[in-house]
Amino acid sequence: MAQAKMLEGKVVVVTGAGGGIGRDFAHAMAEHGAKVVVNDLGTSVAGEGKDVGPAQRVVDEIKAKGGTAVASTDSVSDWESANRIISCALDVYGRIDGVVNNAGILRDRFFFKMSVEEWKAVIDVHLNGSFFVSRAAVNYFRDQGSGAYVHMTSTSGLIGNFGQANYAAAKLGIIGLSKSIALDLAKYHVRSNCIAPFAWSRMIGTIPADSDEQKARLEKLKVMETAKIAPMAVYLLSDAAKDVTGQIFGVRANELFLFSQNRPLRSVHRAGGWTPQAIADQAIPAMRAHFYPLDRSQDVFSWDPI
Ligand code: NAI
Repeated sequence: MAQAKMLEGKVVVVTGAGGGIGRDFAHAMAEHGAKVVVNDLGTSVAGEGKDVGPAQRVVDEIKAKGGTAVASTDSVSDWESANRIISCALDVYGRIDGVVNNAGILRDRFFFKMSVEEWKAVIDVHLNGSFFVSRAAVNYFRDQGSGAYVHMTSTSGLIGNFGQANYAAAKLGIIGLSKSIALDLAKYHVRSNCIAPFAWSRMIGTIPADSDEQKARLEKLKVMETAKIAPMAVYLLSDAAKDVTGQIFGVRANELFLFSQNRPLRSVHRAGGWTPQAIADQAIPAMRAHFYPLDRSQDVFSWDPI
């Protein structure tokens, strides 16, 4: 039996869809019947330069398979150009139903060496870009009483990683943005969810591998195909997910995850209140058993991708 097309009649915008995970999103969404705005600045992993080629190539690939798509090469990291990305959907297809904030760059550096420019560049694309594109679409969503956002977050923010203070802060900021959108728009039936992907893309290809052990680990990561992330994004934009909002999912090859969200772990109470010394003597010993170690993503996801 042919599989049902889950996005028939919908118009979706995918940012950063000229390569990697976003390209597979655009393909899968078109295969599921969506008309797709393939947005990509065509920039390097570090966010330097631009090229209209990647977005147009993906549009050509989708059209060759009988799908419907249009290229947009505006940047997400500026309010005016983010508005042009959303306008493209309205101008060409007359509506908008889904927004996927996927565009991203990296400027990894240990915190003690990170420049202001490296900080700002990453915050601009990931956090400000996700706000700009989401904000540009929201009034259409609110007026029509429907719409769905998917934002890409990362276990570098949810758990931690070396040398990514800018990226981790932006990706955790996106968690807050998504939850806030979900809360503010619930009464308009507009939904917002996050995906933390694990995928072998050019972005991961920038991870340095000096030792044989690191090289072996990177080899194993290559089974995390970018196309494996797409079914979750298609689902989250579809009407099948109409009661799913404010959640954080993970996708790694054939594994799906639902992430926890912060809740108090332990509470201590002291009649008459706390002094610094009482915190040292009583509160911290009571809480210490629940402290988190300085884990990185790979310490928590310690098994090979399945
Ligand atoms: P990628 O580098 O292959 O794709 C990112 C795309 O975004 C590129 O085509 C780039 O040209 C585009 N882009 C960059 N700045 C832009 C801007 N200002 N406006 C419009 N487009 C812009 O990377 P990948 O791996 O496909 O990443 C996709 C998303 O998934 C990113 O948000 C990334 O942070 C996130 N992610 C990826 C992980 C992975 O394992 N690959 C892990 C965790 C998160």
